[in-house]
Amino acid sequence: MVKVLKNKISTEEIQTLIDYYNLDNNRDERPDQNSKQCPVNSVDWPTRGLTQSLLIKSLGYNPEVERAFYLEKNSESHYHIHVDTYYDDPVEDIDKKYNMLVPLEVDGYCTTVFFKNYYNGSMAKFTQKNIGRFSYYLKDVDGNNSFVYDLKELYMKLKSNSSIYGGVHWPVTKEFIEQVAELIKIRSGKDNIPIIKDYTKIKNFNDQPFDKDIYNKYLSGMNYQDFHGLTLDKVVEWELGDIILFPKTQLHTVGTTHDHKLHYTVFTR
Ligand SMILES: [Fe+2]
Repeated sequence: MVKVLKNKISTEEIQTLIDYYNLDNNRDERPDQNSKQCPVNSVDWPTRGLTQSLLIKSLGYNPEVERAFYLEKNSESHYHIHVDTYYDDPVEDIDKKYNMLVPLEVDGYCTTVFFKNYYNGSMAKFTQKNIGRFSYYLKDVDGNNSFVYDLKELYMKLKSNSSIYGGVHWPVTKEFIEQVAELIKIRSGKDNIPIIKDYTKIKNFNDQPFDKDIYNKYLSGMNYQDFHGLTLDKVVEWELGDIILFPKTQLHTVGTTHDHKLHYTVFTR
């Protein structure tokens, strides 16, 4: 069950976390989101103590930490339904374990939408769209976010001075080509999680259309078919001071109604 713990983190503690995010080491800056991984295995990780104390205060014990990271999104970011289970090594008793989400900056109506659906395999995205590992949304020559089915194919086109790929005009500039190359590098790494189209693998899948009113209110802009067979559990509205604990195996997604948001997330084991 998702738990929202009210007034669990002070303004000063939030600022301490933001200050560490703003140091520009380990930043991963992309057109649609910025993120930063904390060096969880390093002894001189400055926010280790604070992270541990927040975990103990929220969970009641001191868990092993798999990842701690920041994610900053703007209104144009694209999302998928996913689970935050584990990367490589399966977690013991995963059904009983929680991850921690701490809102740090809230601009507009920021939510996380949780479903009464669960999956206990390794980290995965769930979608019915025809996307691959190297699919992405990027700004085309007109400044619109357009779909790139395969960044590698786009890269080859741009390198041969061709501006059209997938029926869209792309800027043939040095900056854009470098950005595409950087995204290919990121997507080639092991953090790129599998995409699951077969929803029969999801617990509580019901093969019914998803509630259209809920979709319109919190999720519009996403692919409606991606929600087919899922059931809403809870829409959690972010408030500063709250700590959100959610089961590691629970499907969820970012709502689409925010303007800008920054959060700190810790995956436990
Ligand atoms: Fe997540």
